[in-house]
Amino acid sequence: MPDDFPLQSQTPDALMLFGFWYRALPTRQLGRGQLAKTMLLEQPLVIGRDRQGQAFALRNACPHRGMPLSCGHFDGQQIECSYHGWKFDAHSGQCKLIPSLVPDQTLKIDRIYAGSYPCEERDDFLWVFIPDPGPAGAGFSKPALAPTPAPEIPKFSEHYKLAYLTADLPCTVDHGIIGLMDPAHGPFVHQAWWWRTQSSIHEKRKNFEPIPYGFRMSAHTPSSNSAPYKLLRLYADADSITTTIDFVLPNLRSEIIRAGKYWFSSLTTVTPITRNQCRIDVVAAWNLFRWIPFGPQLLKFVFAKFVEQDRRTMELQSEGLKYSPHLMLIDDADRPAKWYFGLKNAMLEMKKTGGEFRHPMAGPVTLKWRS
Ligand code: FES
Ligand SMILES: [Fe+2]
Repeated sequence: MPDDFPLQSQTPDALMLFGFWYRALPTRQLGRGQLAKTMLLEQPLVIGRDRQGQAFALRNACPHRGMPLSCGHFDGQQIECSYHGWKFDAHSGQCKLIPSLVPDQTLKIDRIYAGSYPCEERDDFLWVFIPDPGPAGAGFSKPALAPTPAPEIPKFSEHYKLAYLTADLPCTVDHGIIGLMDPAHGPFVHQAWWWRTQSSIHEKRKNFEPIPYGFRMSAHTPSSNSAPYKLLRLYADADSITTTIDFVLPNLRSEIIRAGKYWFSSLTTVTPITRNQCRIDVVAAWNLFRWIPFGPQLLKFVFAKFVEQDRRTMELQSEGLKYSPHLMLIDDADRPAKWYFGLKNAMLEMKKTGGEFRHPMAGPVTLKWRS
């Protein structure tokens, strides 16, 4: 994106990207034979797990008259709507029974579908694929197919631990995402006596490069005030530790830290629930801490503190954003945010025109900022 890209068009416009996988809910919140009601991109969803433990996702509005299917009865295979008793196959959403029909009424019930979404389990979360909005008459549309498998956290050994944190953010997905990639708020939002103080602020230089549908902070020795780095110092030489941070559309931030045979890998997502509300989920995998008592608890404590500080900040920010202030993105600290908006525009443009994806970065760039 050129530097004189008009500011106004970079400011969050709350458009949500359809045609991607999104984290829906932690797998442990859903037992066999259970239903859970949720929402992604303003789509009402009922997510469930059949008798065999296989998860599924349906539009949470009966195609007959819109009753939420999550209010219905689920026998572990079919959902019965609580209003007129229509039954739907949990996986395909296909209608199986309309109790009011008499034998000589020939309505073809197998042409009726309660919209079904691809649903997969990955790393302690259920992911749902939200396709581009289909044609009108959704009550007759067959289940969509996902073009790719759901994203997964990269792992580098057979044995590892997994943990997650989740928090609701009262802001648009764009503010959630640019807050996540914003290097300049650290010294002000994430202060703690045991962590860092404002006076630890110093100049940083990081190399970035374009990757498909995203950008990468090239492999480097992590900042001396990053969380996993401080813990990794317990295992390895400072110089042998490298980290790579990627952002990829629509909302995926992955961070991989390696130190010899030890590794720590996380995949953070900011998921639009409605246009004014999103949720951050941090899922991490690692093979560290086997010899440190309380290692994982310590890490979770640090991450929980950080996420809570970000959540609280965004809650306060949403007060000011109610009045639609003019916003600024400055160089270099807000350049990743500019790339994000550039990537998103390129994606929307590509969907609209069917043309090529025009990546906003021409090549590798070094950014400098103090944090
Ligand atoms: S609204 Fe669901 S069966 Fe009528
Ligand atoms: Fe933060």
